[in-house]
Amino acid sequence: MVTAVAQRLASQRKEIDDTLATFTLSTTQLQEVKAKMRVELERGLKKDTHPTASVKMLPTYVYRTPDGTERGKYLALDLGGTNFRVLVVKIRTGMRNSVRMYNKIYAIPLEIMQGTGEELFDHIVQCISDFLDYMGMKNTRLPLGFTFSFPCNQTGIDKGDLVSWTKGFKATDCEGYDVVDMLREAIKRRNEFDLDIVAIVNDTVGTMMTCAYEDPKCQIGLIAGTGSNVCYMEEMKNIELVEGDEGQMCVNTEWGGFGENDNIEDIRTRYDREVDGGSLNPGKQRFEKMTSGMYLGEIVRQILIDLTKRGLLFRGRITERLKTKGIFETKFLSQIESDRLALLQVRSILQSLGLDSTCDDSIIVKEVCGAVSRRAAQLCGAGMAAIVDKIRENRGLDHLEITVGVDGTLYKLHPHFSTILKDTVRELAPNCKVDFILSEDGSGKGAALITAVIDKYLYAMRFSDETLRDIMARFRREMENGLGGDTNPTATVKMLPTFVRSIPDGSEKGDFIALDLGGSNFRILRVKVSHEKKQTVQMESQIYETPEDIIHGSGSRLFDHVAECLGDFMEKQKIKDKKLPVGFTFSFPCAHSKLDEAVLLTWTKRFKASGVEGMDVVKLLNKAIKKRGDYDADIMAVVNDTVGTMMTCGFDDQRCEVGIIIGTGTNACYMEELRHIDMVEGDEGRMCINTEWGAFGDDGTLEDIRTEFDREIDRGSLNPGKQLFEKMVSGMYMGELVRLILVKMAKEGLLFEGRITPELLTKGKFETKHVSAIEKSKEGLTKAKEILTRLGVEPSEDDCIAVQHVCAIVSFRSANLIAATLGAILTRLKDNKNSPRLRTTVGIDGSLYKMHPQYSRRLHKTVRRLVPESDVRFLLSESGSGKGAAMVTAWASRES
Ligand code: BG6
Ligand code: BG6
Ligand code: GLC
Ligand code: GLC
Repeated sequence: MVTAVAQRLASQRKEIDDTLATFTLSTTQLQEVKAKMRVELERGLKKDTHPTASVKMLPTYVYRTPDGTERGKYLALDLGGTNFRVLVVKIRTGMRNSVRMYNKIYAIPLEIMQGTGEELFDHIVQCISDFLDYMGMKNTRLPLGFTFSFPCNQTGIDKGDLVSWTKGFKATDCEGYDVVDMLREAIKRRNEFDLDIVAIVNDTVGTMMTCAYEDPKCQIGLIAGTGSNVCYMEEMKNIELVEGDEGQMCVNTEWGGFGENDNIEDIRTRYDREVDGGSLNPGKQRFEKMTSGMYLGEIVRQILIDLTKRGLLFRGRITERLKTKGIFETKFLSQIESDRLALLQVRSILQSLGLDSTCDDSIIVKEVCGAVSRRAAQLCGAGMAAIVDKIRENRGLDHLEITVGVDGTLYKLHPHFSTILKDTVRELAPNCKVDFILSEDGSGKGAALITAVIDKYLYAMRFSDETLRDIMARFRREMENGLGGDTNPTATVKMLPTFVRSIPDGSEKGDFIALDLGGSNFRILRVKVSHEKKQTVQMESQIYETPEDIIHGSGSRLFDHVAECLGDFMEKQKIKDKKLPVGFTFSFPCAHSKLDEAVLLTWTKRFKASGVEGMDVVKLLNKAIKKRGDYDADIMAVVNDTVGTMMTCGFDDQRCEVGIIIGTGTNACYMEELRHIDMVEGDEGRMCINTEWGAFGDDGTLEDIRTEFDREIDRGSLNPGKQLFEKMVSGMYMGELVRLILVKMAKEGLLFEGRITPELLTKGKFETKHVSAIEKSKEGLTKAKEILTRLGVEPSEDDCIAVQHVCAIVSFRSANLIAATLGAILTRLKDNKNSPRLRTTVGIDGSLYKMHPQYSRRLHKTVRRLVPESDVRFLLSESGSGKGAAMVTAWASRES
């Protein structure tokens, strides 16, 4: 008896397993899918095979960034996903300019989705009408952008014939007709208002665009929602349907149609065929029907019906509910598959769907859902692998790094879909590193539109990797000019020898004083390095004020102030009677002929004290100390803050051979082979070079990438025409850059309803720390509101989003530019070492790098992309440059 039951259970189990096994795809099968997809992509692109291709590869006439965001009033429609939305960007011009955005969701009843084309477009226009009424904008002719998530044969950005309906739409008399014309006619029929339709965009393209601003590597858009589709940037020369060979164009693949030529029949199951047969478009969109939210639940339902018929489920009873099409929406699948749900909860979900189930039933239903969604994610992954490999080959690369912008309820809501998708891509396209970023719902379409407006504005601040590589090459030339004996006198990047010849080796010890002047704080430190047991460092420090009248006054007053602070510090430390060795971190460009001789070449950043340029700062400080006569000091070494930072980090990691500062100012030093340094005698060993890269561009080399805002910053600075690179990237200028952009945008009515307050017009009112606060992912928008409110502009939510975008673009540019110059140093180091791969550590300090929430990640990522043949460790200097200065002083005092 017992064995009979056990046998029956075992055989039932086997039947279920066999059924689900038809959904399991081996790696070989997935590789085949990838290969077949690749063939179809090529067929879609070629003129002679295009007419019969299952993957249509439709040209979109989007060459780079969003277009059609004219000033005035801008309207957007978003049709074809789960929701139909109408949005407006209202830009008023006149005395008081303003911009506002609104977004409203409208229902499209089933009978309209599947009625006549006229009814559908009349309904759309009615929704627009309702919206315009609500906005009081009926009497203006608005430019409109239309996200239309169906395949269209486009012949221009504003012309697209609907190829065929997909998903849940099936309105008559639309296929083969221009969607823009149909909308225009419906507007005419209504005869209430006029609109200017400027662009028709597939949802994949809209998504790619929205995400591309976050990450310039985003060149693919993926929708895994009601439907499934991908677009990507293709080389013009491969798109045979469009004239011209130069540059790129986005192609809407319409991969949902994959399989229409029977080439994936081997992996389709009887359930897929049943779903297809019962759909609005039998035989069509076969890949979509295996992968997207609209159909997965249907596949599950077909399996459940079959299992029930076979007596394996629901006690063999097929209820009316189970026969009801569409009961399993994506959200239910996602809930059922959530790992956090106990079986009991799964059961109650099934019950809420009207499916009376036992606990065993719940287990089986969950397995069915898992098998179906897993296959969907794997198939999408295989398709994506084909796309990224194609892009990689297009560019003749061994390795490609690329980002996919994604939207869609399946991807967003399902607990495992995205992970399986990513794993599959990784497995099937091992030569591509593919990142996925979500098109954030929080800012949604509104943000995309604002982005479009801003993009037009700040287009010049976003660089492709190609441009960054070009900047990297320019900086390498500058470095060579600075190092060469003949070229150094006229070089802009000075490449100053520092007379520091190695990084700490652990033998340093003693009791030192360090001064740290030139960053955001003036600090005096006592650094004790001892050798009991392990080498240990003890530090005590104090921050002193450096008031503006002192740093802008006479040089003697400045050094008197430094000497006074030093006296105070020694007094507090009770060491006024001692003559401790002093290391001086002086964060300005100095010409050295030895460690303790440093002639200031020029002030940078906030400093501008008279009578110091051209003088040896050691002498000036000694003079000031002598004049006081109340203590003695022995200044043994002057180091730049980059050098101090490299030494501080070198103390912890012997591999450190680069130091960079991204703070008030920006600069880098690195260890160069002595034989390449023409200005210093000797050929053996290495010496640290202070590049003073802030001056990059002072001879006009960066004019092509400087913007009007950069020029304005320069004009208003203490040193016009100087430190042009520094002014584009460092903390002292970043807030100001954002402020200038905001002022301009407000003036043009793009922000704050055109309100410009005295605070907004005041220099320095927007600081770099504000940029950091606003870019925080969680509380960023709240911070933006606070900060902008303090500037008196009464920001709307959309203003806050826009300002966040501006901050991101400006800070992203900074990280990208620094990645390029740092990349140049790294490739130089690699060449010096004559090795195929560089393994090194970069010591970093500076408030911008430390405080900004995204900066370091962006910098690291871009560096790795620009210098792929390197393994770089970025080491944050935890204790400032004082410790490093003490190390240098330790050697100096040993040698003297
Ligand atoms: C939305 C986009 O966020 O996602 C639409 O605004 C897109 O354009 C949709 O069609 C896709 O997802 P779903 O799940 O709604 O089909
Ligand atoms: C500090 C260093 O940590 O960082 C200074 O000790 C350096 O030497 C400074 O100048 C740079 O950052 P900021 O942001 O203060 O200019
Ligand atoms: C369908 C449409 C396609 C769209 C996708 C995602 O596949 O044909 O144009 O991008 O759904 O919404
Ligand atoms: C400025 C200085 C440079 C310093 C950098 C960072 O660029 O000229 O010497 O290293 O700021 O503080």
